[in-house]
Amino acid sequence: MKARLHRPTPSALRRLAAVLRDGGLVAIPTETVYGLAAHALDPKACRAIFQAKGRPAHDPLIVHVLDLAHAEELAEFNEAARKLVRTFWPGPLTLVLPKKTCVPGIVTSGGPTVALRAPAHPLAHRLLKLAGVPLAAPSANPFTYISPTTAEHVRQGLGSRIPHILDGGPCPIGVESTVLDLTRPNRPRVLRPGAISAEEIARVLNTKVTTVRRAGKKGARLLAPGLLDKHYSPRTPLTLSNAPAPATRDIAVIWLRRPSGKASAGIYWLSQRGALAEIARNLYRVLREADVGGHRRILVEKLPPTAGGLATAINDRLKRAAAKR
Ligand code: TXA
Ligand code: MG
Repeated sequence: MKARLHRPTPSALRRLAAVLRDGGLVAIPTETVYGLAAHALDPKACRAIFQAKGRPAHDPLIVHVLDLAHAEELAEFNEAARKLVRTFWPGPLTLVLPKKTCVPGIVTSGGPTVALRAPAHPLAHRLLKLAGVPLAAPSANPFTYISPTTAEHVRQGLGSRIPHILDGGPCPIGVESTVLDLTRPNRPRVLRPGAISAEEIARVLNTKVTTVRRAGKKGARLLAPGLLDKHYSPRTPLTLSNAPAPATRDIAVIWLRRPSGKASAGIYWLSQRGALAEIARNLYRVLREADVGGHRRILVEKLPPTAGGLATAINDRLKRAAAKR
């Protein structure tokens, strides 16, 4: 199989929506990263997602919906969840809630909860509307590799395993959504940090929000399988450093800001002046470029432990990229 790249014309969108409705796979842009989408209520279609990604069946999928009304058909909502939806949807907030029976077990890895979000990307929204079905979509990368933020990244990773990629240009946010467990509405827990911070969520709910830090323990792994330590990883060994040494022939350095002086092989940067949104947007592209640059090792300049949601999300991804297993 060789994936076809589609430009987002009205007729292409109509055709891809029909592919999805009929149980086919389509990689689609969202505001966070590209997702590999399938009809969420069609177990066979969802099984094909796991196969294409090489993803273990115990790692459940996020289901994408148009809005709250559609989400309530799939999960038992509580007032806290509705409040967050009114503030943050459509957008990069995924809610984990008790599932309703119509959601197939393959989507939730047999568990009693389902993860839901309404994407803000206009093309994802348009496809959801045209397809008229909820779309299960994990990030469109081979399991544990770096998530894709362009259609070309998707093609590089999955191009021989999926039929269709919708090209919506680079993703504006660049890191995956915040995943929030709300199965106990008065004990909300962030399972994966993202663009919407625990602090912002706490402010809306007026309750304490905890963050599940590591998945080292078996219990935590079952709770949020995607929190596996090694994730989002380049193939070249990667180390975080407060003050990286200059790049050498073998060792590449990824700086937070564009360094002064001449650009040369092995020197990469995540932003012009250190703006967090820009660092997040460029993170996975730059990791990929450094990964294929023929280096023996990659050093990444560490973000200072500043407050702020995006910094937490970026640090989380970098730590996982550096994890050895
Ligand atoms: O921004 C995003 O969330 C992107 C775009 C495509 O929407 N999707 C994404 O999906 O990152 P994925 O599958 O790569 O990550 C989903 C995360 C995983 O860590 C998974 O374990 C967790 O959500 N998850 C899914 N369902 C869950 C559930 N019922 N309970 C706990 N965690 C769940
Ligand atoms: Mg993923």
